[in-house]
Amino acid sequence: MEAKASSLRWGILRQAILGRCSPQNHDGHPTSSAMKSISRKASQGFNLIPSHPVDDKEDSNRKDSCTCYILPVPGAPKLFLTQRADNVADLSDFENSNRYNVDNTGLVCNWPSEEVMAYFCLSHADMFRTKRVIELGSGYGLAGLVIAATTEALEVVISDGNPQVVDYIQQNIDSNTGVFSRTKVKSMALHWEQDISRISDTFDVIIASDCTFFKEFHKGLACTLKLLLTDNGPSEAIFFSPKRGDSLDKFLETIQEYGFRYSVTENYDADVWRLHQGFMYGNEFWPTYDKDHCYPLLVRISL
Ligand SMILES: C[S@@+](CC[C@H](N)C(=O)[O-])C[C@H]1O[C@@H](n2cnc3c(N)ncnc32)[C@H](O)[C@@H]1O
Repeated sequence: MEAKASSLRWGILRQAILGRCSPQNHDGHPTSSAMKSISRKASQGFNLIPSHPVDDKEDSNRKDSCTCYILPVPGAPKLFLTQRADNVADLSDFENSNRYNVDNTGLVCNWPSEEVMAYFCLSHADMFRTKRVIELGSGYGLAGLVIAATTEALEVVISDGNPQVVDYIQQNIDSNTGVFSRTKVKSMALHWEQDISRISDTFDVIIASDCTFFKEFHKGLACTLKLLLTDNGPSEAIFFSPKRGDSLDKFLETIQEYGFRYSVTENYDADVWRLHQGFMYGNEFWPTYDKDHCYPLLVRISL
């Protein structure tokens, strides 16, 4: 992932530099040819939550695409998420990423861990009922939306540190408002190095998927957890994280230094485990499957 993210940045930088030499339009901005897409590889997934693209045949060149997720629980609603179309990135992604000190991984795709976390939340609805929940580094926010739509949580905040990602989150909340019942749902721009004292001590459950590979933000993320978890009653953070080299282990060392307790579970769901075993021992559906980068461990963190 680190290599992919950095090569993506370099690809965009290269495009930005080339764009400066390209013809400009009358506003002085690069022409659309200079902003042309840079190839990015979307990730495979566990396919625990069946999904299909919602076709908009009128506009095949558009930057975004809409996907319908069919939650595998009787009576559960469908969710519609707008995401970047595969292989689309532009110069503003790189500019934003530099300006806000955050990467673009949230725009690339819904990562496999997010789907696993959403599936886990769906099958553990009791953990969220009447609770205040926040998702950190949510990307498009599938798991937060699943909680909002199916668990009778009191409040769900879906957050990310990349403002472009937050725009997608808000769009996805707006597209699904009809299914939230009485749960309050909102988006939030929340960078793990920002001052969050105004919302400290507020949340019963924090969730996050695939957010521990940024070693430079481990301390910021640990501080964020410490401030957000409420002192009133039991509260915990639930992370789904692939090991990704030593990055998860380093994160666990950091949270221990901050006084957290944690547990790590490898086999937490029979369906996920069965799929994982299938991918490990050769499965055409996901030939590039690599446990270290694709299989999320369940990490439960409390004070
Ligand atoms: C690998 S993506 C995971 C996104 C989503 N959870 C998923 O699994 O599909 C990591 C996410 O963390 C966000 N992020 C990275 N650094 C951050 C920071 N310092 N503060 C807040 N969010 C951050 C990125 O914008 C991105 O959405």
